Amino acid sequence: MIDLHTHFLHGIDDGAQTLEESLGLARASVADGVTVCAMTPHIHPGRFENFKSRLSLQVEAFRAALKHHNIPLRITLGAEVRLSIESLEQVLSGEVPFLGRVGGCHIMLLEFPHQTLPLGSMQFINKLLSLNIRPLIAHPERNKAVMADPRRVQPFLDAGCWLQVTAGAIVGDFGETAKKVALQLMDNDQVHLIASDAHNLGARAPSMGLARTALTKRYGAAATQLLVRDRAASILGLTLKPGV
Ligand SMILES: [Fe+2]
Repeated sequence: MIDLHTHFLHGIDDGAQTLEESLGLARASVADGVTVCAMTPHIHPGRFENFKSRLSLQVEAFRAALKHHNIPLRITLGAEVRLSIESLEQVLSGEVPFLGRVGGCHIMLLEFPHQTLPLGSMQFINKLLSLNIRPLIAHPERNKAVMADPRRVQPFLDAGCWLQVTAGAIVGDFGETAKKVALQLMDNDQVHLIASDAHNLGARAPSMGLARTALTKRYGAAATQLLVRDRAASILGLTLKPGV
């Protein structure tokens, strides 16, 4: 499987705090069946000040540590970018890493505030699209406005956004409402891919494997493979061998 949303790089957001924790998360991911992970630290101006130039060095250092500890996890750099004017300025300055590219469009993991879909969200998204950046919206099933009315994702899909649902939400780790909304979005074929959003080895541990089992039961193996592997591979530009 490929996991495009993780907080493994240590000491730079609310994910791993030490290198040991980073390595523990990587080991847990591999044990869970993940072979490739995007590091997606928060870029949240005013809260988590992270920049592509520095993150690139941090990802290189972590790659070396994985090799040193014989952990067979391939890693790439992305970011989970908070919707804000300051983030847009950072995008324009070239200091936001994208997950990858599809069809000539950069793919950017975008985070809304958890409570609302703020006024101006669509203008923000349209600005990104005009810059050839397609937002992959992180965990809509955990946004209070979407939880109250899942139809609120439709304008964003119509504009060209993709949705990433949290693996743990599918198996109930974020409560019954998040699970119900996640499955409703999945049933409506509105979800582009699943990712862990793993932060630690406690309540926010890597959990792609359990989600894959649940999704396979509900949608079959072929549809599940798109959600846990193939679409992510396409974003990263990877060609995978069967069974990876
Ligand atoms: Fe996240």
